[in-house]
Amino acid sequence: MSFAKITGSGGYLPPRVVTNTDLAAELATRGIETSDEWIVERTGIRQRHLADPGTRTSMLATKAAQQAMDDAGVAAADIDLIIVATSTPDYIFPSTACLVQASLGVRQGAAFDIQAVCSGFVYALTTAEAFIKAGRARAALVIGAEVFSSILDWDDRKTCVLFGDGAGAVVLQASETPGIIGAELHADGSQMGILHAAGNVAGGQVVGDPFLRMDGQAVFKMAVNALSRSAQDVCVQAGVGLSDINWMVPHQANLRIISFLGKKLGIPSEKVVVTVDQHANTSAASVPLALNAARRDGRIKAGDLVLMQGVGGGFTWGSVLARM
Ligand code: ACO
Repeated sequence: MSFAKITGSGGYLPPRVVTNTDLAAELATRGIETSDEWIVERTGIRQRHLADPGTRTSMLATKAAQQAMDDAGVAAADIDLIIVATSTPDYIFPSTACLVQASLGVRQGAAFDIQAVCSGFVYALTTAEAFIKAGRARAALVIGAEVFSSILDWDDRKTCVLFGDGAGAVVLQASETPGIIGAELHADGSQMGILHAAGNVAGGQVVGDPFLRMDGQAVFKMAVNALSRSAQDVCVQAGVGLSDINWMVPHQANLRIISFLGKKLGIPSEKVVVTVDQHANTSAASVPLALNAARRDGRIKAGDLVLMQGVGGGFTWGSVLARM
C-alpha cells in the first residue's frame, strides 16, 4: 500500500455552552471587564464549550475516537496505532493515548501522545502517515483533544476569552489510492516566549506559572506568515496549485488570522471551514473538529482536496494536504 487515507472522522464537545455574554457576566463578578462586542470584533468567537470539573481529556478523546471508528467502519481489533495530540494530558504519565486505548478496548499496537500545542493534530497526522507508509501500521486513530480550560488564567481577559474544550479524531488507513499527498512540519524554539505555559512539576509541587501566557500581536503576525508560506510549500511538494484546493481547514484560533491567511493565499472564504465562532480555540482539537463538522454537514466530500494547517506554541506550525 503506498498511501494513507482518512476513512472516518469524529468529534465531541462537552455539553456546557458558554456564550460571550455568559462569560462576560461571570468575569464581571470577579471585577474583570469584557464584552461580546469586544470578543466578536477581535476574534470572531461567539461561544465555547467548557468541560465540567473532573472531565479529563481522555474522556473527550475516547468519544471522538469512537465516532471516527464507527464512521470508518473499523473495530477495536483493527486499530494498531493511537496518537493523541494534547497539551492537557490527564496525567504526567501514562500518556492520554494509552488511556484512550484502554477505554476503546484496543489491545494491540502502539499508543503515544504528541505535544505540539495547536499544531498537534497536524504533527500527529504526519507521524501516523509515516508509520503507515513505512508499513509499521495499517489503521491509526489520530486524535486532537484538550481540556484547555484547565490551563487558563480566568483573571487574564487577554487569554481566557479565546479558548474552549473538545476533541476531534480521524481514522487513517493504508490505501491503494491517495490519501495524504503532502505534509510539512516546522518548529522555531527560539520563539517560546510569545506563547507558553511555563510551569512544571518538581518534588510533587507545581513550580513556576502553570497558566497559558501569550503575546497576542506577535502570535498573530507569526501565524499568518508561517501558515501562508507553509501552504505554498506543501502545494509545491505535492505538485498541485493553491487553486486546486477544495477546502482549507486552518487552525481555528481567530477569525481575523483565518481571513488574513485566506486573502494572502487567494483562497476565497467559501472554501474555508470556520468553526472558531462556535468552538473558540480548542488547540490540538481545532483542526479535526472543523474537518469533522464539514464532512458531517456534506461540504467536504470524497475526492475533495483538503489543506489542513496547524500553528501554535513552540513555536510550531505545519500543513497536510489530503485527498478525501
Ligand atoms: N475584553 C476587553 N478588552 C480586552 C480584552 C477582553 N477580553 N482583552 C484585551 N483587552 C484590551 C486590552 O487590555 C487593551 O486595552 P488598553 O488599550 O486599554 O491597554 C486593548 O483591549 C487592546 O489589547 P491588545 O492585546 O492590543 O488587543 P489586540 O487587538 O491585539 O487583540 C488578540 C488581542 C485578540 C489576542 C489579538 O492579538 C490576536 O488575535 N492575536 C492572535 C493570537 C491568538 O489568536 N492566539 C490564540 C492562541 S495561539 C494559537 O492558537 C496559534
